[in-house]
Amino acid sequence: MYSLFEEQITQNIVGSDAHLGAYENSFSEAASYFPEVSLLDRGVDAYLDQLQQVKGAVDIPVVASLNGNREGEWVSYASLIEGAGADALELNLYCLATDFNVSASDMEDRYLRIVQSIRERISIPLSVKLSPSFTALPHFAKRLSEAGVDGLVLFNRFYQPDFDVDELEVVPRLKYSYSQELLLRLRWLALLSSRIDCQLAASGGAHTGIDVVKALMAGADVIQLVSTLLINGPIRAEEILAELTEWMEEKEYGSLEMLRGCMNYDSCPDPEALERANYMRILKSWRPH
Ligand SMILES: Cc1cc2nc3c(=O)[nH]c(=O)nc-3n(C[C@H](O)[C@H](O)[C@H](O)COP(=O)(O)O)c2cc1C
Repeated sequence: MYSLFEEQITQNIVGSDAHLGAYENSFSEAASYFPEVSLLDRGVDAYLDQLQQVKGAVDIPVVASLNGNREGEWVSYASLIEGAGADALELNLYCLATDFNVSASDMEDRYLRIVQSIRERISIPLSVKLSPSFTALPHFAKRLSEAGVDGLVLFNRFYQPDFDVDELEVVPRLKYSYSQELLLRLRWLALLSSRIDCQLAASGGAHTGIDVVKALMAGADVIQLVSTLLINGPIRAEEILAELTEWMEEKEYGSLEMLRGCMNYDSCPDPEALERANYMRILKSWRPH
């Protein structure tokens, strides 16, 4: 399911928009950076109601999503989500580092504390959706796994606002993904899979059966589909499954297990050196047109 946001919950807890009110004194051009209260209208109760309805209507597992990055009471809503019947919870730590006084390790420690406080509240599987912008992603991924996280979702797509230069406004523009975005996921799936005690989900850029094959080869346990389903409708899931099955039959892969991780770094003793070697090879392969 879509996310229930920390901001919605905090608003629910304090019963006012005090949290968002902090932005009121921002200068006007910047005001369009901030979410309006009306954007947060879909309330907490409505989320839990919908979760219960979805759960009653389908016979596949339902994964709910909490989205936040600050420590606070909002994490207690994980228990309500579990109580409403979610089979698993995805925690999205979407965050952009903007504070000059907060280091990468400060942020990672904070994320860990959030994860731990959610982990101790629920017993259903917990996955964490990450951004790709960690200096040492494998180290942080290992810490998450040690904290009891069952799955990592790679990655958030960063919402990148554009400027309207005439109106001096920030223009929010949500664009669908494209298959090229999968490449970033493939690299990190290949690096993490089989080296970490966590399941891995690819999120971002899977549009075709071949994209799914690639993500599986890199080591994904799960492939999330959003843009392609929104563009083509739910029927696309069936088509992608058929493309995957047809490809596997043609290439004589008898099971997903034969495919999963076959292109990962499992047998590579020094991925860092390999990455540098490939990087140099690519730069040196350039020829003038
Ligand atoms: C309309 C729309 C709404 C989304 N809402 C959420 C959300 O509530 N929580 C979340 O973690 N990701 C959300 N996402 C991001 C998707 O979960 C996914 O990470 C992203 O679209 C990349 O996958 P894709 O290439 O299959 O689209 C949303 C994406 C779209 C297009």
